[in-house]
Amino acid sequence: MFRKKPIALALSAVLVLALTLVGCGAKPATTSADKKEDVKPIIVKFAHVVTPDTPKGQAALKFKELAEKKTNGKVKVEVYPSSQLYGDKEELEACQAGNVQIIAPSVTKLVGLNPKFQYTDLPFLFPDNAAVYKFFASASMKGLMNSLDKYNLQGLAVWPNGFKQFTNNKRPLVTPADFKGLKFRTQAGKVLEAQFKALGAGSATIAFGETYAALQQGTVDGQENTFNNIDTQKYQETQKYLTVTNHGRIDYMIIVNKSFWAGLEPDIRKALDESMAEATKYAVEQAELLDQKSMDNLKKAGKMQFTELTPAQMGVFQETMKPVYTQFESVLGKDLIDEAIKSGKK
Ligand code: LMR
Repeated sequence: MFRKKPIALALSAVLVLALTLVGCGAKPATTSADKKEDVKPIIVKFAHVVTPDTPKGQAALKFKELAEKKTNGKVKVEVYPSSQLYGDKEELEACQAGNVQIIAPSVTKLVGLNPKFQYTDLPFLFPDNAAVYKFFASASMKGLMNSLDKYNLQGLAVWPNGFKQFTNNKRPLVTPADFKGLKFRTQAGKVLEAQFKALGAGSATIAFGETYAALQQGTVDGQENTFNNIDTQKYQETQKYLTVTNHGRIDYMIIVNKSFWAGLEPDIRKALDESMAEATKYAVEQAELLDQKSMDNLKKAGKMQFTELTPAQMGVFQETMKPVYTQFESVLGKDLIDEAIKSGKK
């Protein structure tokens, strides 16, 4: 008679037990390594209003890549571009409330927290990028960053975009007289309003996410922005004329919810600080690269007529817009204006 050997019996018993366990849906015991994988990552939501193919969009993605690598996946950064999560009107409050951890508004949009952030709108304040970067590293900028503390916000870095140009769909803007009767979209604040007033134009503050529609529907005739924002927002579809003036800046304050940042484990915060420092260098590279690329794109597309001003024509604009300085000296502070001007001196 056939008899199973004891070893074969034991093996079939184990097999039966294993099959029964699988059949009942029982899970094998977890090991400590498995448990580690189960730990949920810290989610950092990073919301901004521009497209991914902008200096800010690219640098936000670089920060995500670095932060996730340097923390070995303990932090997961979710980047929300194009006002998908919050637009201009909501993002500051959302960050204060901790509904989003990082935002990157253009500095002038912080006017409600500190009107001095409007320094960036003083016409022709900076002659070139080098002057802007020098001001980013100044004591005045440090002061502006620190002024966010009392709102449970913390400035982590300043990222550049570039110089602004005027666009509109009525006529080429060659002299200030050409602005008369036109209405322009502004980002925020009284300095921009005064700038357009000095040019004889009207203005209206409109959120970035609503600007294309406002231009298309004729709520406003024109706007001012960097080559890259004009290009990536496709303003050339609604605007026939662009004048190269480099009269103001769009740069960003990278802001984090302060209590969230303070509550991170020190090694995690260190990794994120390092990631932010590297992403900031990348933002500078991208800003310069994409400014040029977008200018070329717009020229090549040929949809907008470009006006390049002579030095004499530029001088007329500078003179016309100069009164804005005295008008806002008490708001912005003479020291801050002087430091910004000094950044541009060789
Ligand atoms: C604008 O509103 O025009 C810009 O601040 C948008 C941006 O973030 O570059």
